[in-house]
Order: sequence, then structure tokens, then C-alpha cells
Amino acid sequence: MSGVVKTLSLRRLASAVARRAKGLATGGLASGLLRLAGLLYRNRPVPMGVVAQARRMAVAHDGLYPRNMTVMTTGLDLRDAHLAATFAESTFGEWSLAAEVVNFLEAFVRRTEPAYVLELGSGLSTACLAHVLAELPPGVHRRLVSIDQSSNFVARTRDLVDRVDVAVPVELHVRPLQPRPLHGAVASTYDLDDAFLTQLSTPSPPDLVLVDGPTGGGAGRFAALEALCPYLRDDTVVFMDDGLRDEEIGLARRSRTDSLLRVEGVYLLGKGLVIARTGRRRAA
Ligand SMILES: C[S@@+](CC[C@H](N)C(=O)[O-])C[C@H]1O[C@@H](n2cnc3c(N)ncnc32)[C@H](O)[C@@H]1O
Repeated sequence: MSGVVKTLSLRRLASAVARRAKGLATGGLASGLLRLAGLLYRNRPVPMGVVAQARRMAVAHDGLYPRNMTVMTTGLDLRDAHLAATFAESTFGEWSLAAEVVNFLEAFVRRTEPAYVLELGSGLSTACLAHVLAELPPGVHRRLVSIDQSSNFVARTRDLVDRVDVAVPVELHVRPLQPRPLHGAVASTYDLDDAFLTQLSTPSPPDLVLVDGPTGGGAGRFAALEALCPYLRDDTVVFMDDGLRDEEIGLARRSRTDSLLRVEGVYLLGKGLVIARTGRRRAA
């Protein structure tokens, strides 16, 4: 009897080892495919179809999503000298955007010069964006609005913004989470009622949107975007962090041809930065 138990245990052990080895092999293959795509697409976003193909090859849950440790750095990795000095001892890439994502957004903002940036999910990113916006050419009224679910984090963000000492007005709003339907299910997202959204888009809507909240996964973020998109101009650029997480990949694929949001792909930076544009694709 004990011989049978021993054989069964050995078989289970062997099959667990085989599953693990397969996971590692296919996970390695998936990351390899993604790295190759990164080389091919260089400074462009990797299309969702390629990301989804790599995802199918990764067995583990969140198989493409980098572990925190692999993207965490201090603020010394920020390219902007003032931000690097101010946040030299802060950790980027754990709860906040990775430093390389901040660097990418810094370059994007300096190139496109948006007058008004809207952010979902406040923190270090808010302070960094405020500094970069304040450095854009004068003569344009600039505005940064950031929404968070928690008054504690809004208070912390206010302290971070004060440390960079910016001239651009930074409006921080606490909007607690509440249920909102999304694709036949219910997501937990910011309380974005019509009056608040009208206030956000008056006198003119944001030129750029960064989505890095709420916490709790991609559904809350997509539900927030569903509420927000009708208030945005067509072709507004929307960036969303955590683009290599399973839930975000699934929802981004689903939204690729949405009438509200066209997902273009994922920049392989930090934990994956999704780029999307509002509105329908225009006929060529
Ligand atoms: C991904 S974080 C947003 C980070 C922000 N965009 C940044 O780059 O610093 C999303 C939300 O998590 C919450 N949060 C931030 N830091 C946290 C922490 N250390 N522990 C728990 N929740 C946190 C805040 O409410 C925040 O809006």
C-alpha cells in the first residue's frame, strides 16, 4: 500500500515539475517574443495582436506582467535633473509609474505641449507632470487635474507637488469608488457624474489623459474611461499604465475597435504603457 502511495506521490511530483518546466519554457518563449517585438517596433507601441499572441504563450497568470522588483528604481533614473534631485530617494515603479515611463511621458509632453492634462490616480506622477507642464513655453494657460479615490493619497500628492514648486495650477479631486456597469459585469471606479465631468471639460476638455488608477485592476480603469470619453475630443491621446497585466490586455483588445476608444498598442516600458485615442477610426 505504501508503495502505491509512494508511486502516486512521485507521479504527482513529476507532473508538477513537468508543468512548472513547461510554464518556464513557454513563459520564456512569451517574454522572448515580446522582447523581439520590442526590437522590431523600437520606439513604437507593440500592436495589441502581438501582445495577445505573446500572452497566449505565457502559461502563468499575469505571465507578461513584470515583477515590481524588475522595474523599481529610485528617482535618480529620471532624466529631468530637477525631478531626479527632488525625488532621488523616492521609489518609482512600485505603486507609482516606473521612472522610464515618467521619462517617456516627459518627452511626449515636451513635444506635444498639451495645455491641459487629466490624470486618474495621483502620486509621484502628478508632481512630475506638474513640473514638466510648468516648463513648457509660456503664454498658454496650462492646467493639471488629478483624480484619486482616497483623501489620504490626495494629501500625500499635495505634499509631493509642493516639493517641485510649480507655477501650473494642480487641481486634486477625491472621487470615491462606486460600482459602474462594464461589458455586462460591474466594475468599481471613480464617482464620475455628469456634473463633475462637465466641470472637468469646461471651458475645454483635456488634451492628454493618463490613466493609472483606480487601484484594483483594469476594469475600474476602463469603466472610468467609458464615463469620461464622451466628454473628450476625438483623437485625444490616452495613456494607461499596467498595460502588460492580463486584465488590461483583455480589455484593451476588446476596446481596440470600440466606438469610444481605439487602442493602438503597448509601449514596452515599465509595466507596459497602453496608448489609445478617443473616437472612431477615420477612413483613410
Ligand atoms: C497606481 S497608483 C497611482 C500612482 C500614481 N499615478 C503615481 O505614479 O505615483 C493607484 C492608486 O493607488 C493608491 N495608492 C498609491 N500608493 C499606494 C500605496 N503605497 N499603498 C496603497 N495604495 C496606494 C492611490 O489611491 C492611487 O491613486
